[in-house]
Amino acid sequence: MLITIPDVLTAEQVRQMRAKLDVADWVDGKVTAGYQAQRVKDNQQLPEGSPLAAELGEVVLGGLARSPLFMSAALPLRVFPPMFNRYAGGGQFGTHVDTAIRQLVTTGQRIRTDVSATLFLTAPEEYDGGELIVEDTYGAHSVKLPAGHMVLYPATSLHRVEPVTRGARVSSFFWIQSMIRSDGDRAMLFDLDRSIQRLALDLPGSPVGVELTGVYHNLLRRWTEM
Ligand code: NI
Repeated sequence: MLITIPDVLTAEQVRQMRAKLDVADWVDGKVTAGYQAQRVKDNQQLPEGSPLAAELGEVVLGGLARSPLFMSAALPLRVFPPMFNRYAGGGQFGTHVDTAIRQLVTTGQRIRTDVSATLFLTAPEEYDGGELIVEDTYGAHSVKLPAGHMVLYPATSLHRVEPVTRGARVSSFFWIQSMIRSDGDRAMLFDLDRSIQRLALDLPGSPVGVELTGVYHNLLRRWTEM
């Protein structure tokens, strides 16, 4: 399931973040890439665990906590501390799959990457190229969102970032370990949740809504891994 979460950050939050990121000390993005990804990765990152990444990451996590759509779509158990990257001057990230298990530099805790997230911090008109291309059995999906919007996609997908040929593309990226490991199961729960929300609007107070809410929670109880 590929889903857009609009307005995770306000325009003012994006502006404040960009002011700090535009003067930040970036390092080569290869430092956090695995063996296969290193060969195709050409971008810059804030050092993992740097004070600025931690400060801005808290703002991102606050935005996620305020988003019912994120909660419903990702059913998060753990969120990897948000990281920040920058593509410019032809920078790109060739086709790869994200590392399955990541370890936090701070605590050593391991996180299984079920869902990948990219939160765009530059407006599409500020740069050329830089589309996130996510491949699935239905074909390739091209994603380029307004600043402050985020895309979630299965971490199992092959994906790439096209070369940035003008301007710079700055984003936050991170992973979520979901309570629901299977993307298919998670997508079904999301669909059911949306139907229940719509039913509550169409037929307020309907006992069917209560019954379906029961089914939702009982499926969640059955499938959750914690
Ligand atoms: Ni990736």
